[in-house]
Amino acid sequence: MSRGAGAKRAEIWTTLLETAIHAPSPHNVQPWRVRVNSDREADLFIDKERTLPKEDVTGSFIILTMGMFIEALGLLAAHRGMRLEHSLHHDPSRYTPEAIAATRETMLPFARLRLSQDGAAPPAYPGDLFLRRQTSRISLRPDPVPADAAHALARIANEWDQRYEAITDPSRIERILAWNTEALFDDLNAPDYHDEIVSWFRFTDGAARRHRDGLDYRCMNASRLEFFLIARLPWLLQLRLTRPLLWKMYRDQIGRVPTLGLLAGGFWRPEDAFRTGRFLIHFWLETARHRLYIHPYGNLVTNKKANERMLQETGIRDIWLIFKIGRSDEPPRSYRRPVEAILLD
Ligand SMILES: Cc1cc2nc3c(=O)[nH]c(=O)nc-3n(C[C@H](O)[C@H](O)[C@H](O)COP(=O)(O)O)c2cc1C
Repeated sequence: MSRGAGAKRAEIWTTLLETAIHAPSPHNVQPWRVRVNSDREADLFIDKERTLPKEDVTGSFIILTMGMFIEALGLLAAHRGMRLEHSLHHDPSRYTPEAIAATRETMLPFARLRLSQDGAAPPAYPGDLFLRRQTSRISLRPDPVPADAAHALARIANEWDQRYEAITDPSRIERILAWNTEALFDDLNAPDYHDEIVSWFRFTDGAARRHRDGLDYRCMNASRLEFFLIARLPWLLQLRLTRPLLWKMYRDQIGRVPTLGLLAGGFWRPEDAFRTGRFLIHFWLETARHRLYIHPYGNLVTNKKANERMLQETGIRDIWLIFKIGRSDEPPRSYRRPVEAILLD
């Protein structure tokens, strides 16, 4: 086939992907790769180099991310009067770190995607919401989450068999944020965790622009010095003299937190994580619809001690996402790799 015909074939997929790539992913790894078979069919792969085996020990986070991405494509297709169907190539348990390490493939087949005409599909979320949705790590304004937004978020969670709860008591919030800091400082001193996350740090504007992925210091609301210290001298986080100083620096960086939100439900079993990812993109887009931002605190759920403390504090089992939620100024925008970089020949 001529190049021209190939490009035409990919047109609808390119259009959908241009917006879907703005879906969130842990550390902004953007694990998705796509091979277009025809204007109606494409295959979705996980790029092995973009998984997080040291932190995502059950594989749930990578599967969740793929669930969000497929759902994003489906919502965008619906907006264009089309329906997107998917069939998973393998059981989700195939994407545990052990299973991924055992395969020699670099692109792991994940799902076949099919588009069909569907005049009746409701345009659930307009494309601009995908761009308005961002992680905000800057200080939130004092206003609480409006009641209509809180109801809408709880309703969506309910529809997907998930639970959304909010914590607004300032002393509880401070206690939980302190557990988060302790967990983060400990985890950054665990070599496997440290080396994996730091490989996604982008220390300069040039590096962020070149890679167009990962965590850059602007988006993390950190100074380049803070970012450097955490990455290169993590033991300072544990040293008696420097720990209180860095603790305060990190707390100041988080800023005002009027509300902590949490999500609980099926997630930790890989077979649950895919549906939960499909749910999460709805939930996150809904926050954007209400002009709210969230900032997840991953260490509160992945760090064993913090996770146990959260269970004791709330009595809620299966918490898998904890985040600050509220209004803020528009945060710095994170980069995305261009669609050409995610298309496979
Ligand atoms: C499941 C999940 C967990 C995340 N956990 C964290 C986290 O612990 N800390 C953090 O700063 N950002 C976290 N994020 C936010 C991502 O880093 C962010 O989505 C990504 O960098 C892209 O930025 P954007 O959301 O502004 O588009 C998480 C995102 C997802 C999907």
